[in-house]
Amino acid sequence: MLYPNLAGQFGSALTVGKKTDFPAALPADFKQDQTGVFYRQEAKTYLVHLAKGTHFLLNGSSLTDQFDSESIVKDKDGSYWVALYQRCVHLGCTYAYRPDCVSFKCPCHGSHYNVDGEYLDGPAPRSADRFAVSFSGGDVVVETGSLNNKVPRPDDTTRLIAIPTIACGA
Ligand code: FES
Repeated sequence: MLYPNLAGQFGSALTVGKKTDFPAALPADFKQDQTGVFYRQEAKTYLVHLAKGTHFLLNGSSLTDQFDSESIVKDKDGSYWVALYQRCVHLGCTYAYRPDCVSFKCPCHGSHYNVDGEYLDGPAPRSADRFAVSFSGGDVVVETGSLNNKVPRPDDTTRLIAIPTIACGA
């Protein structure tokens, strides 16, 4: 059987830049493609780099277990990485980062996701899908062939990041 050669294309492991191309930030300081949140068209990904000091609602093993289930990688410097697939899990539109809401929102039917991709509101049946992230030397690799599409809507026992207090209009 023949398999397509996807090397260097969406569906394979893609080097999206150097770690230093993606400065970490706290959510309140995110500026798309400058700090915290970065769009990479070739990987169909919003790469999110949360700073050390990000406030998580869980701790101990609950926190690390939740990082695993949400494909969030803790880096050696104490920051956190997650690669969110741009495709809304409702009906597949491309959602957008909304600096006015400090979150992601889909223009089609309003599905709304927190900065780590966790479901906030709208018709999406689950949190945003995400790809595995790894590092090769100083490079950041998004494994676009390895999709985690099993992150449910969070509840009080699993939510990692507090719901933004800013209302997010259409
Ligand atoms: S496709 Fe995104 S909300 Fe429907």
